[in-house]
Amino acid sequence: MNFSDSEIVASVMASHDYSIAGDAPSADIILLNTCSIREHAENRVLGRLRELQHLRKKKPGLLIGVLGCMAERLKEKLLEDKDLGMRIDMVVGPDAYRQLPQLMADAETGQKAINVMLSVDETYADISPVRYAANGVSAFISIMRGCENFCAYCVVPYTRGKERSRDPESILNEAKQLIAAGYREVTLLGQNVNSYSWSDKNSGAEIRFSQLLEMVADLDPLLRVRFATSHPKDISDELIRTIAGKDNICNAIHLPVQSGSTSVLQRMNRKYSREDYLERIKAIRAIIPDCAISTDFIAGFCGETEEEHRETLSLMDEVGFDFAFMFKYSERPDTLAAKKYKDDVPEEVKTRRLSEIIERQQKHSLASNHRDLNTCQLVLAEGASKRSEANMMGRTSRNKVVVFPAGNTVPGDYVMVEISHCTSATLKGKIASE
Ligand code: 5AD
Ligand code: SF4
Repeated sequence: MNFSDSEIVASVMASHDYSIAGDAPSADIILLNTCSIREHAENRVLGRLRELQHLRKKKPGLLIGVLGCMAERLKEKLLEDKDLGMRIDMVVGPDAYRQLPQLMADAETGQKAINVMLSVDETYADISPVRYAANGVSAFISIMRGCENFCAYCVVPYTRGKERSRDPESILNEAKQLIAAGYREVTLLGQNVNSYSWSDKNSGAEIRFSQLLEMVADLDPLLRVRFATSHPKDISDELIRTIAGKDNICNAIHLPVQSGSTSVLQRMNRKYSREDYLERIKAIRAIIPDCAISTDFIAGFCGETEEEHRETLSLMDEVGFDFAFMFKYSERPDTLAAKKYKDDVPEEVKTRRLSEIIERQQKHSLASNHRDLNTCQLVLAEGASKRSEANMMGRTSRNKVVVFPAGNTVPGDYVMVEISHCTSATLKGKIASE
């Protein structure tokens, strides 16, 4: 989401004749787009801001701004030099990016500038993102903003505000522009894409996410379409059928479960039980037998007992996730959990539980990759692999990373790759046909 938002910021800045500097020392303005999801993320941002202060000595007019969720959460506190131990010139929340040029002009006069107003309707629909860090093959399209689910641990509803969907026409136009520019894959982004809803101005008819997904997929059969993220409580059979019905909608669903224990899920305010989640997995597997399923886990949420933790491990074995993002619970100020529960799982217990989850996931990821050995996979090539220019990296529909000798392949090509080796993170093979 931040990657995508930064492309919007770049576009707002470009329309006021600013351009992207190659690196921080050569920049006149440095904007950090920030995340508040865990304390660790915020600490890293504060560390980076401290590091950047020395650049002011060489460039007295340098402006440093904090954008995004941390700006929204900490507001004026980020402008208190004494408390913070450093100077920040601008604080801009996620719904105020259109005001950046004005805020910049204020900051240039030496005043500190802040706008952290949240909006009920801002979707930046008319802004064409500047794809300054994209690979030319795969791009994000933001389809909605905000979240009103209020999961007990989560800061997002407070930092990103009310949920709002973006006009489908502007989404389709953005996808068409990407196709015209040679892109081959789009990921439709939202905190909870299943809540996407738009009423047509003329007919009043509702457009839901599954319909939007189909409309984007129908633009071009060579365009791969992905989406993130889905909330388990409202991933519908209709959506699963839409994915099954189109070859170019990727067979990969990210469905964050957070915990395998119904009592923990209840405390988390997730609005589904372990059984509900398993029922949705069953529905996905029945409709799309070869669908990759990935997830998120939080280890050591408030009051989590050893038994509840073991339920997460047993759910992992039951589902066999292809991939997971795994985190230790980090209390966020003012969330429901911070108000209602004690962050009472000792740090060393959280660490041990997280490592058990990671270890279990590595086993499942490896098993999932083993199943792909000696098969041919349709891979969309994205660019040179990290380790060697002679190798190309790409992804399968199921979102598995594949590395193979590049031959004549260029980014954006579809190639059939015969898989011969794997680790828990990567598949390796050679081109079977172009
Ligand atoms: N502590 C740890 N992990 C969190 N997440 C969200 N809030 C927290 C928190 N307070 C994780 C969830 C979510 C992912 C984006 O980040 O797993 O799905
Ligand atoms: Fe946070 Fe829950 Fe909204 Fe996801 S659905 S952004 S975890 S409140």
